[in-house]
Amino acid sequence: MGMQVVSLTLVLATCGLSLDNGLMRTPPMGWLAWERFRCNVDCSTDPENCISERLFMDMADRLAEDGWKELGYEYVNIDDCWAALQRDSQGQLVADPQRFPSGIKALAQYVHSKGLKLGIYGDLGTYTCGGYPGTTLDQIELDARTFASWGVDMLKFDGCYSNSSTKAMGYPMMSKALNATGRHIAFSCSWPAYEGGLPPEVNYTLLGEICNLWRNYDDIDDSWESVRGIINWYSMHQDVLQRVAGPGRWNDPDMLIIGNFGLSFEQSKSQMALWAILAAPLFMSNDLRAISIQDSAILQNKLLIRINQDPLGLQGRMILKGIDDIEVWMRELSSSTMALAFFSQRVDMPYHYTTALSQLNITAPDVFSVLDVYSGWVHHDLKVDTKFTVTINPSGVVVLYLYPEKSLVKTQEKKRP
Ligand code: GAL
Repeated sequence: MGMQVVSLTLVLATCGLSLDNGLMRTPPMGWLAWERFRCNVDCSTDPENCISERLFMDMADRLAEDGWKELGYEYVNIDDCWAALQRDSQGQLVADPQRFPSGIKALAQYVHSKGLKLGIYGDLGTYTCGGYPGTTLDQIELDARTFASWGVDMLKFDGCYSNSSTKAMGYPMMSKALNATGRHIAFSCSWPAYEGGLPPEVNYTLLGEICNLWRNYDDIDDSWESVRGIINWYSMHQDVLQRVAGPGRWNDPDMLIIGNFGLSFEQSKSQMALWAILAAPLFMSNDLRAISIQDSAILQNKLLIRINQDPLGLQGRMILKGIDDIEVWMRELSSSTMALAFFSQRVDMPYHYTTALSQLNITAPDVFSVLDVYSGWVHHDLKVDTKFTVTINPSGVVVLYLYPEKSLVKTQEKKRP
């Protein structure tokens, strides 16, 4: 009886509390134009890289044909600078007719024909950050209906050119308006990033109710300094941030910039590893037409994707930071497995780090199997008290996937006739 009461309360709480679209039970994955392609609208001199339907069709082709889609990268997302500078005579947003001659509806159809989803960008305010038409409070319902009529699957809603009280009204209004369209449109809210990303200015309980993901902090740029700044901000505020994430509601440390110009090989591996541990949305912003095999391999690492997509949806955290500038990060995963990342913020040389699982407060079960996620190296029978050493390159990472030794035995036993 007691049990029944508890589960009923849980069901009621879930119905009343979550954004009612059932989307993004695991972190969303896909591609987003902004970091790599910005507001390049010069299609006459740079036709391949300007914000145009061609760019998004090219990326949809690559996602569908180069193995990305099968791994879960399914969103093709437009960012700022897609719209015409004026709304049409009915007050509706329209795509720039030169750069999107077929219109967004046709682009959505194209993307859907590839088995992918289309995301679009709007801004709660008088203008977008790039100076294109924004969405004022009285235009919210119209714009939600317009996006739905085009067959859009996700909206990133930015917050330039509006104040805090407009945002406090507008974000819940847009969430409701998207739901009211009857189309499942995932909702990405930039709201917290405008309010400093922390309580009491930011109400994460409310955000979890109205948004599927939210940007907490600064924009990412194409540099290690930027990535590192973001990682440090998330570890500094992990006590607040870790518990607000879960299925359908994710903290968003911004795009993956792997495949661009600013990160070394080690740094690229570190961004992917930490984004996996943080249960972060995996939106690449790079040129999939010209990405190296090495960078693709990082972004397509199946085990890291599996860690990122773990169904429990628990965000990981930094569990230790030594004076040696080595950080240990951990994410609890389903089926008594876990991911450990040893991340170096050193700038000298490969560092030999010796520890034991028990020193990291991992005490049960007594014995683990360990899989080194990037090298593929496997070690069985690691007892929690046994010391082991990992070698971590400067600004690099070693990621270990731990699973109970017994689970392996069980799978083998099951296979026997
Ligand atoms: C920023 C936002 C970026 C990008 C840009 C577009 O505010 O954080 O991710 O969307 O606006 O102008």
